[in-house]
Amino acid sequence: EELTYEESIRRASKTLCRFPLRSVRGIPLMEPIAQSWESIWSFCPDPSDLLISTYPKAGTTWTQEIVDLLLHNGDAEACKRATVAVRIPFLEIISPPPIPSGLDLLNKMNPPRVIKTHLPIQLVPEGFWKNKCKVIYVARNAKDNLVSYYHFDRMNHTQPDPGPWDGYIHKFMKGELAWGSWYDHVKGYWEERENRNILYLFYEDMKENPRHEVERIMKFLDLSLSDDVIGSIVELTSFKAMKDNPMTNYTFLPEEIFDHSVSPFMRKGEVGDWANHFSSEQLQLFEEDYERQMKGTNIPFRMNI
Ligand code: A3P
Repeated sequence: EELTYEESIRRASKTLCRFPLRSVRGIPLMEPIAQSWESIWSFCPDPSDLLISTYPKAGTTWTQEIVDLLLHNGDAEACKRATVAVRIPFLEIISPPPIPSGLDLLNKMNPPRVIKTHLPIQLVPEGFWKNKCKVIYVARNAKDNLVSYYHFDRMNHTQPDPGPWDGYIHKFMKGELAWGSWYDHVKGYWEERENRNILYLFYEDMKENPRHEVERIMKFLDLSLSDDVIGSIVELTSFKAMKDNPMTNYTFLPEEIFDHSVSPFMRKGEVGDWANHFSSEQLQLFEEDYERQMKGTNIPFRMNI
């Protein structure tokens, strides 16, 4: 009997827990990922595969849905053929059996595949660069990214407990959260964007002018869809539409894993929610540290709205 991905997770949900982090080449990753690191590192993509890379909570799911719709000429039904986690597998995710790993899902698919990752650029398997794969990177301003990650770590029972908000800010600044430093992550891809085949996007631009960013992605994928289709893709990937879509809102995972009653996966989807979280002391400390960590980069001001 072949279980669906979601059913295998439901059956194994008792074996999942808040996994501790372990360092892989200086980057804290969840223990099962660290344990299987060699198999992830040796993954070799096809040159036609596309990678969507982000620091966690920067707008991954949103971008995944835009890309899948673009590749299916805006066909909403085609993009409901499976949950977003199955359509666009998460490269490095490893869970206890019988849950298939990201690699298991990928190995069952024929290229061209779309692949999700949160790995910092130096941990992306070298085959992606050797094969000159296209990469879409999405960055989100630090404070909103941090707030979103905090609420996610409260509701995602496979990630370390976030603890109190104040301590969480410090862990973020020190790069101690899963997948490491936000600062190094956004800088790493930014510095390489012109040497490699990287389309570098900002969550804030996607919010401000979704149509413009959808068109940029379309061109990057060498597609040309009609204005109507582009318009409908923008509609189908609005926050509201994706929150109501069971194939994208992550309610397909059991509540022992993603507890939406603690904080929904589709939480707010806004720019500037950080202002509801930071005290003035926390803000000052964060800004001073931000200056230090981002010194010398020319990433646009958007990164610290
Ligand atoms: P918030 O927690 O600020 O609401 P990821 O997919 O990388 O895990 O990112 C999740 C964040 O993106 C969440 O942010 C989520 O609400 C937001 N998001 C998801 N889909 C979105 C959409 N269509 N439009 C805007 N924001 C979206």
